[in-house]
Amino acid sequence: MKHQKQNSGNERPERSATAVAHANIALIKYWGKRSLSRNLPAVGSISMTVDSLKTETEVSFEDTLEQDHFELNGKKVKGPARERVSSFLDLIRPTERETYAEVVSTNNFPTGAGLASSASGFAALTLAASRAAGQHLKKKDLSRVARQGSGSAARSVYGGLVEMKRGATPDGKGDYAETLADEDYWDLRLVVVLTAEDGKEVGSTQGMIHTAETSPFYSKWIDEQPADLEAMRQAIVQKNFEKLGELTERSCFKMHGLMMAAQPSLLYWNPTTVMVVQKVRELRSQGIPAYITMDAGPQVKILCLPAWIDNIKQALSTINSIKKLWICKPGPAAEIISREKEKA
Ligand code: PMV
Repeated sequence: MKHQKQNSGNERPERSATAVAHANIALIKYWGKRSLSRNLPAVGSISMTVDSLKTETEVSFEDTLEQDHFELNGKKVKGPARERVSSFLDLIRPTERETYAEVVSTNNFPTGAGLASSASGFAALTLAASRAAGQHLKKKDLSRVARQGSGSAARSVYGGLVEMKRGATPDGKGDYAETLADEDYWDLRLVVVLTAEDGKEVGSTQGMIHTAETSPFYSKWIDEQPADLEAMRQAIVQKNFEKLGELTERSCFKMHGLMMAAQPSLLYWNPTTVMVVQKVRELRSQGIPAYITMDAGPQVKILCLPAWIDNIKQALSTINSIKKLWICKPGPAAEIISREKEKA
């Protein structure tokens, strides 16, 4: 845990804050960047924040530190992962002088395995660091900052169903997320199926660049996204579950189709991934409305309504190679955890 600094009388009080943020899973996917330096998405996206997967992060700016320290799940992090956190903190740290931070973070789920740990991670880091730096940012601004750490993190600032907008200008002013419906609007479920515990092979940024450069379907993907987003907004307004599911599954396969058509091909799936996909199709042919989505990793997420959870669990129990399941509900927005709450 964080080492405690002795506070002598004339020292400034420690500037510290702790935030929690939940992962989100995209229903209409984000894949592709229009600017690498500002991390601007090439397309908008729509996601559901999930209640069961979360990151808790404490940030303390301390004048005595000579560099940033980053601890994740009880282990000191060095190398590129620490550098990534450190350059992100440059966007936030108090500017009156160089001030380094101690960052202590915990994920309650596997990191970097296609389960959106960068989304919850950078959303929690943005909120905790900005508050520790004395800033009280509006959600829109938090979202813009979080986006620069990881595109999907912009969405984890909010709970429920969220839209990330693709802006029109190169400064990224219009590239932020907004809430479409809060977590109480629609009692949906996402069954998150862990098919492998190892980290993903190709990170999302690298994968996006590679796809944009070599996939013959990339321009079609970009062109069709506004219509997919509009259809999804309507499905949400109408609470049309079948439409929601169909659009979700289609967006997922469009994205993976793009990746597979890249040269060399980008394939994130393993045999268990395919078994789960086939099982969900089988369920659907029996009249059970369940739809899949997958990200830059081999894990499968199954979108359904609460009434079908038992049938889905039963069907998945026949696949022995599944490592773990989470049954997720729409989750809450990122928030600061007060000291009082922490102690309780
Ligand atoms: O936020 P990033 O850079 O890790 O990209 C996320 C990409 C996907 O998870 C595959 C899709 C998405 O919209 O979350």
